[in-house]
Amino acid sequence: TSPTIDLAPNCEIEYPPFVSFPAMQPPDTLQKVINQLQLERHVENGYFKETDRSPFTIDYSQSEYPSGSNENPDLAMPTRTEAPRYEGKRSYSTMIYYLLTPDAPITKMIMNRSRNIHVLQKGKGQYVLVYPDGTIKSFKVGFDYENGEVSQWVVPGGVYKASFLLPNEEFDNGMLISEIVVPGFEFSDYKPIPGKKELETLVGEEKAELLKPFL
Ligand code: GUN
Repeated sequence: TSPTIDLAPNCEIEYPPFVSFPAMQPPDTLQKVINQLQLERHVENGYFKETDRSPFTIDYSQSEYPSGSNENPDLAMPTRTEAPRYEGKRSYSTMIYYLLTPDAPITKMIMNRSRNIHVLQKGKGQYVLVYPDGTIKSFKVGFDYENGEVSQWVVPGGVYKASFLLPNEEFDNGMLISEIVVPGFEFSDYKPIPGKKELETLVGEEKAELLKPFL
């Protein structure tokens, strides 16, 4: 569990119009931010830049986990009661900027082995988490605390996450966040949801249909 998320009220998943009809390009204001922060397109959609990677590393290859137990990457992902298993070296931490814009308003659903610390910089969005037991949690991120929005949220390792942009005036329909991963991000710790079937197995047919835009 994660206090920052457990305390956020659960929200209905209603996609704003630009999820079905993305813009051709970002508005000038957001293009300026992309240029100033030197963001690039990300495989999950959106724009990102790795702004920090700790020069210190930790070597997990000597750790107590029996070797060979990580052949199935799913088994190496943590569950709510299990610590993550890493193989090899990791940076102590990494940090990125991540930006959603009306031309890139929705992410793919992915999971990381490491827990992921998110800090909102500007704008509004909505997150959707799918836990290993199929529980779905969705919450809004923004600075309207009165209405249950949160500006910090920590997604545990082994939990699928996805997000979409919510219309907002304060940042021209953008959402800029920072993400900190400890130990640091590696693609070998990263897993997109394989497809509709896996989603159906996790959450059932009806809810998988609702979450289809994240595939
Ligand atoms: N490279 C590609 N995706 C990512 C990511 O999500 N985080 C970091 N740190 N680097 C990446």
